[in-house]
Amino acid sequence: MPPLSEQVILITGASAGIGEATARRLARSGARLILTARRADRLKALATELDPTGIRVVPFAADLTLAEQREALITGTLARFGRLDALINNAGYAQRGPLERVPLESIRHNYEVNVFAVVALCQLVAPVLRDQGSGRIVNITSVAGRIARPLTSVYDSTKHALEALSDGLRGELKPFGVQVVVIRPGFIATDFVSAATAASADTLADLGPYTPYMSRLRDGFAELRRLAAGPDVIARCVERALSARRPCLHYTAPAHARLFLFARWLFPARVVDWFIRLRTRPV
Ligand SMILES: NC(=O)c1ccc[n+]([C@@H]2O[C@H](COP(=O)([O-])OP(=O)(O)OC[C@H]3O[C@@H](n4cnc5c(N)ncnc54)[C@H](OP(=O)(O)O)[C@@H]3O)[C@@H](O)[C@H]2O)c1
Repeated sequence: MPPLSEQVILITGASAGIGEATARRLARSGARLILTARRADRLKALATELDPTGIRVVPFAADLTLAEQREALITGTLARFGRLDALINNAGYAQRGPLERVPLESIRHNYEVNVFAVVALCQLVAPVLRDQGSGRIVNITSVAGRIARPLTSVYDSTKHALEALSDGLRGELKPFGVQVVVIRPGFIATDFVSAATAASADTLADLGPYTPYMSRLRDGFAELRRLAAGPDVIARCVERALSARRPCLHYTAPAHARLFLFARWLFPARVVDWFIRLRTRPV
């Protein structure tokens, strides 16, 4: 793996939050970056701010649920830089609501963005990295990829799927010199909650008998979100994953996220289940 300053790195979901913070951090190292997301104006402004010459940091607007846009993204990256060293699969959002009431097409869409787009990008990028004999794929999952909660089980299941896909893919690509790393954020202060609320608006508008449980969950989240760290804490993990000679298989940050996973490992499943359900029980 070349040093960070010589790497070509593709970051998805770079128009906001963790992806934007990662772009800012990696740009400081001198790496060449391709920034992608749907909002072209935000990508362009960020790329210009990070590299006014337009040589090292390139915006590429794409909706990752669309096959032709994913293909154009990878073809465009290779045409521009001639190689690719790392793919950061960060784009994602949360569909909220009780499973009974979330329309199947909303569940499918959440899987399209959080799982199938990631799988498709890995399929496009794997042959490139394999032929080079080096490269890294960094998948941003979540603590919710290890702990599933009521009323947000759709999102949590997408992240569980991504954890399993990443762990399996790691063994498939290792013989070819390609490493797969998982990063599990805890609560991070970004637009994530407002994006989740917007994506789930129809479901949340009519929750029927689940209404009091959902408002308890909202209050619980508001309390826990006070633990939230800034997105640079995850950007630092990405930087470590790309610069370490032997990166960890999983990075979990910030500290509260490591504590949650430690508690999940330590306590019997019934105790963990009871504790999580406390957060949705109306008071
Ligand atoms: N914030 C947290 O507390 C937290 C915790 C655990 C895990 N995570 C994970 O961290 C990752 C980044 O989240 P964040 O907190 O930075 O949220 P965010 O601020 O809402 O950013 C999400 C990014 O994903 C992009 N995106 C969404 N749908 C897309 C699509 N169809 N095609 C292309 N790009 C798309 C958005 O760009 P456009 O809207 O411009 O397309 C945006 O850049 C997500 O995978 C999330 O699940 C976040």
